[in-house]
Amino acid sequence: GFYGKIKPKSKGTWVLEYSSPNVAKPFQIYHLRGTALGAALSRIGKFRGYNMISINHLGDWGTQYGKLSIAYKLYGSNLPKEPSIADLVNIYVKFHKEAENNPSLEDDAREAFLKLEKGDPEMTDFWKKCVDISLKEFKSIYKRLSIEFDHYWGESHYQDLLLPLIEQLKEKAIATQSEGAWIVPVNDKKGNELAPLILQKKDGATIYATRDLAAAIYRYEKFNFERMTYIVGAEQKLHFYQIFYALEKIGHPWVEKCEHVPTGLYRFKDEKMSTRKGNFVTLENVLDQAKEKVQAIMQKKDDSFDLSDPVNQKDIEAIAVGAVLYFDASSDPSKDVDFDLDRALDFEGETGPHLQYAHTRCLSILRKAKDAKEITSTTVKYNEELVSYLTHPLELELVKTLGQFPHHLDRTLKYAKASQLAHYLIDITKSFNSFYRECRVLGNEPKLTQARLMLVEATRKVLAESLELLGISLPSKM
Ligand code: ARG
Repeated sequence: GFYGKIKPKSKGTWVLEYSSPNVAKPFQIYHLRGTALGAALSRIGKFRGYNMISINHLGDWGTQYGKLSIAYKLYGSNLPKEPSIADLVNIYVKFHKEAENNPSLEDDAREAFLKLEKGDPEMTDFWKKCVDISLKEFKSIYKRLSIEFDHYWGESHYQDLLLPLIEQLKEKAIATQSEGAWIVPVNDKKGNELAPLILQKKDGATIYATRDLAAAIYRYEKFNFERMTYIVGAEQKLHFYQIFYALEKIGHPWVEKCEHVPTGLYRFKDEKMSTRKGNFVTLENVLDQAKEKVQAIMQKKDDSFDLSDPVNQKDIEAIAVGAVLYFDASSDPSKDVDFDLDRALDFEGETGPHLQYAHTRCLSILRKAKDAKEITSTTVKYNEELVSYLTHPLELELVKTLGQFPHHLDRTLKYAKASQLAHYLIDITKSFNSFYRECRVLGNEPKLTQARLMLVEATRKVLAESLELLGISLPSKM
């Protein structure tokens, strides 16, 4: 079995919303922050017995689809049959430039969006096409990161609930009218007035917040969750404060179980990667760049490294993605961090590749032991009796460190920070290295060798399970 694993669904339901990119917009590198964290929490939560429900709250509704449809009418004929997100972004940008000289385009766009809201078939088809194009690209990224969602419930999913909700809030006098719009006034903890939550604009359109309010209620009715976590950028703190405030006002005591886990951004010292100049960096760009660097490192280590070998290709991908994922996991998710690919790929540093290497080293010790006929299989079974042979302080230290695995998983969940687990893994490798330096594993009195091999296997297992929980694959060799 898996060490540290708790019977599935023996704990309560935890709804975890994360990633949630906007349709027809590129999946940028900063999206990785919430995406990687959410995926890690989702896996660890499952591992520790929670009934995890993961939701991708795609940004798939809003006035931008009106603009996009006009852009498509103007420039769509030049696009390939199967346009990409980048194509959609291109025509969207063109539309904005054109609209500066020709403001009536904005009116056309508004009108088009209203049509979409009313279910106009042509607009609906166009919107669906945008969603499909985007989802296809998003899903290929998720696949590369071994991420799956239980539900792709974008903002549009809650459309039918919005008007009834607004009516209900009007009746209860929770919603008030202000300058033609329907709002819920919001105060801070001290009673000072904050920006209100807007339910419905003067023109009758609903907004992002309306959909979030409806979504929260829908999810509670459906799942009766113990906890609901929104992993979303820190810039949306006020938004979630408003949502939670309104839920409380409506009389939903379960709002206590909801939390916004804010994520920070990446900063880039490399100008090429900077988004400031309007050029954005997609996650795919970064992963491909990481791959090139890994290739170069591997070739430098070994001139006969064969790039055309599919096994090597798979290893390169595992190391590149692993490096980026670990880099993210090891930094505080709520803070902005300097993104540095070279640091992420430093095989000697506190990095993904370093941990993957530690794992392969354990494996090769076990293989050597098997070749030397010390063991019959590289998977050494836990044997209570052998434990008493482990008496060296460094052995005891390693045993103790490995024993903290469940504790660190639970802390990771409690604080919603993968850095808890990420840092613990470095402790393991440090403890393991000290042990391995001082304690000879092979060629001792048989029981002691067996006991030490058991410790090597336990280390390997905790590393393998943890890396997997972080979404990091294990290369076949390094
Ligand atoms: N699509 C939004 C964005 O990219 C994030 C959605 C966050 N989730 C939510 N329930 N509001 O900014």
